[in-house]
Amino acid sequence: MKVDPQAFLATLGDKANSMTADQRADALEEFMMKQLAKPVAPGTTANVRRGTGVMFGGLTPSGFQPALAPLAKMPAQSGLADFFRLRFMPHSVQHLLQSANDALRKGQPEDIVFACLVHDIAINMIKVDHGWWAAQMLEPYVSEKVSWAIRHHQALRFYADPAMGYEYPQQYVRIFGEGYVPEPYIKATYEYARGHQWYQEARMITVHDLYAFDPNITVTLDPFIDIIGRHFKQPKEGLGFDGSPVAHMWRAMIYPDNPL
Ligand SMILES: [Fe+2]
Ligand SMILES: [Fe+2]
Repeated sequence: MKVDPQAFLATLGDKANSMTADQRADALEEFMMKQLAKPVAPGTTANVRRGTGVMFGGLTPSGFQPALAPLAKMPAQSGLADFFRLRFMPHSVQHLLQSANDALRKGQPEDIVFACLVHDIAINMIKVDHGWWAAQMLEPYVSEKVSWAIRHHQALRFYADPAMGYEYPQQYVRIFGEGYVPEPYIKATYEYARGHQWYQEARMITVHDLYAFDPNITVTLDPFIDIIGRHFKQPKEGLGFDGSPVAHMWRAMIYPDNPL
């Protein structure tokens, strides 16, 4: 989105001079989010659909629109790690790595660490209902428990469970506003998930779903390569070309610029 620098600076007033670069970046992010939250006038069409994933020119969940850059060619038989390295947006990769790292450090079972590592992969393509999308993309290649937990983490994010160590995220107050009431289907999904045998697994994804990163920790994919190997059944033809019912979703990320 285009930012009017004068309008942005006017919101800061005298504070602007004493702010650090980080504080200014935070303020800019908040300013952009507020702009996006403005209703579109009737009869006009917004240029950017908010639910579109970043790879397709959409915004990050918190409202940034990173510039689209040319994409590297994918290997002939791409594996999950190739998508982390060559397709998923850097901010989304950091979020996934930090979440998985937190689960690993806190002694979660390995399948939960893996679930944390891939819980938001769909965000790169589409944001709305990203839990359902990610679960479907992964379903042929992961355990039923892992895909179930990923599908339901999205609804659980809206409901606190202090006994399990999960509070309603401040980030959601910023994105959705104060007093936000989720759609009825989200509430129904939450209520269903709460009584399910794998509730805890889905809940643990939300517990380790970190947005406040420790800037002193840099997490790489390397410690997770073996975990991917044990929990993701890599198709020998490569993701996108194995004839599975979700192959086209992976191909869409391989060729996001193809016109048809
Ligand atoms: Fe998520
Ligand atoms: Fe997440």
